[in-house]
Amino acid sequence: RHRSYSVSSAFDFNTHLVPLTPSAPGAGNNRYASMGGSSDNGSLERQKSLTFINSLALLLGLQIGSGIFSSPSQVNNHAGSPGAALLIWFVAGILAWTGAASYAELGGAIPLNGGAQAYLRYCFGEGVSFSFAWTAVMVLKPGSAAIIAIIFGEYVLRVFSPSGGANMWLVKGIALIALMVVTGINAVSTKLTMRLSDLFMYGKILALLLITVLGIVVAATGLNLDGTGASRDWRERNWFTPAEGRGGWEMGEWAIALYAGLWAFDGWDNVNYVVGEMKHPTRDLPRVIHTAMPVVISSYLLANMAYYFVLPYAIIGSSNTVAVAFGTKIFGPLGGILFALAVTLSCFGALNATTFTSGRLVYAAGKEGYLPSLFGKLGLRMHHEEPGSTRITTDSKLAQAGRKCTTFFVGDTEQLGATPIYAMLLNAGLTACYILVGEFGTLLTFYGVAGYSFYFLTVLGLIMLRIKEPGLERPYRTWITTPICFCCVSLFLISRGVFQAPIQTLAVVGFVSLSIPVFWWRVGGGWKGFWAWVTRRGSRGG
Ligand code: ARG
Repeated sequence: RHRSYSVSSAFDFNTHLVPLTPSAPGAGNNRYASMGGSSDNGSLERQKSLTFINSLALLLGLQIGSGIFSSPSQVNNHAGSPGAALLIWFVAGILAWTGAASYAELGGAIPLNGGAQAYLRYCFGEGVSFSFAWTAVMVLKPGSAAIIAIIFGEYVLRVFSPSGGANMWLVKGIALIALMVVTGINAVSTKLTMRLSDLFMYGKILALLLITVLGIVVAATGLNLDGTGASRDWRERNWFTPAEGRGGWEMGEWAIALYAGLWAFDGWDNVNYVVGEMKHPTRDLPRVIHTAMPVVISSYLLANMAYYFVLPYAIIGSSNTVAVAFGTKIFGPLGGILFALAVTLSCFGALNATTFTSGRLVYAAGKEGYLPSLFGKLGLRMHHEEPGSTRITTDSKLAQAGRKCTTFFVGDTEQLGATPIYAMLLNAGLTACYILVGEFGTLLTFYGVAGYSFYFLTVLGLIMLRIKEPGLERPYRTWITTPICFCCVSLFLISRGVFQAPIQTLAVVGFVSLSIPVFWWRVGGGWKGFWAWVTRRGSRGG
């Protein structure tokens, strides 16, 4: 049914290696037969190196990035009152959770790397899948990484000069350095990356817990150390009265607040990009999602409550660095620096996680033939040999001599432990471009509209599959109202975005449509195909 294209022959070199995923129960009768060549899962997936904790850390590490420390002001301003703001945070969290639960079902039924790319291909065919891959690889992934990197740069400067007023180029420079460091770590070793991301996960949860505990202590005792007197104004505050000049029901405003909240929850689909590399994908994917989402939702709600307990309403609305204002209010300037440092680390962790998953998406797109096949190759491998190891290879004379050693292999290597370095380089290059030229207000809306259009389509695919293929093996089934709720709310969001930001929406439509000629180009075999077509027409004409 699907055409497979010439580039797909890049799959062939794997056939002599270990067969596909033993943990994919349906693999025997080839559930993916309709997916063209991709039932060969590629060599990265054979590594099966991600544990439950690794995957959880990846998801938490990506979701908890910059948002909870800086977007509260936007949510607050557009929501109109503290109570409405908290409600928006809750709704955003639940929306993300319904999306993630739907993706858990899809990931179990179609356990391939690449997330939505694989599901869209299965549900709607190659054209839609290609459009997604195109948009995600070219804009969504590098764009969001650039935003995180920039926020990282801003906070690094804030650590050194808390008063703000940062030089834009200095910020961009720091962002670029961070990007290079993170890409380097990711390229060198999956294990190292995972260790780092585990560490960051604990750090982030600790930071959010600290904010909550401090908020409660301050609320209960009125204690604060910055000398401006006890912080009691939350008691007099009327939580649900709209701020001055605000009406009651403002759907458009709430939609914008929701977008800002959703940025903080974004990344909920990212563990789906690496399902193929998980040790126990069918068991762990839903577990990871249903552990991470409630943790993130409750810690965000608690942190926001803490902000409201400690900070005057006006400050929450006006500060883009709420967490720093929070620290300063409680502990004075040093507290501000401490919290700026915590946000810095959080952003760095998120950058690390997003680099990891984006690399996998680009790699999957390369494997699929959506990108030049180079990007679907593994390139750098770090190999440890223990003395006395039984798996000593000829490469490591040192280990034979009874010494511990680490060897690097560069070039096209299909060995265990290799990383998709070309894919990560592409992602890093694009991210660097966005860091350099980025105008982030615009990019964020673009991100929201484009991102949610594809989330919507993917979850719609789930509903269609339930109807069209009731017999498909689904190790995890979500409650059917979950995807329906997600589709309805995201449709509302997309339509609000269309009205609120028509220019950006046009840009999205334009960019996604651009994928159609590119798709035909690749399907038709590029220049060669073009000439074949021209000559065929010519000969037919003559
Ligand atoms: N939720 C993250 C934050 O608060 C942003 C995640 C961006 N998404 C992504 N796929 N990288 O910073």
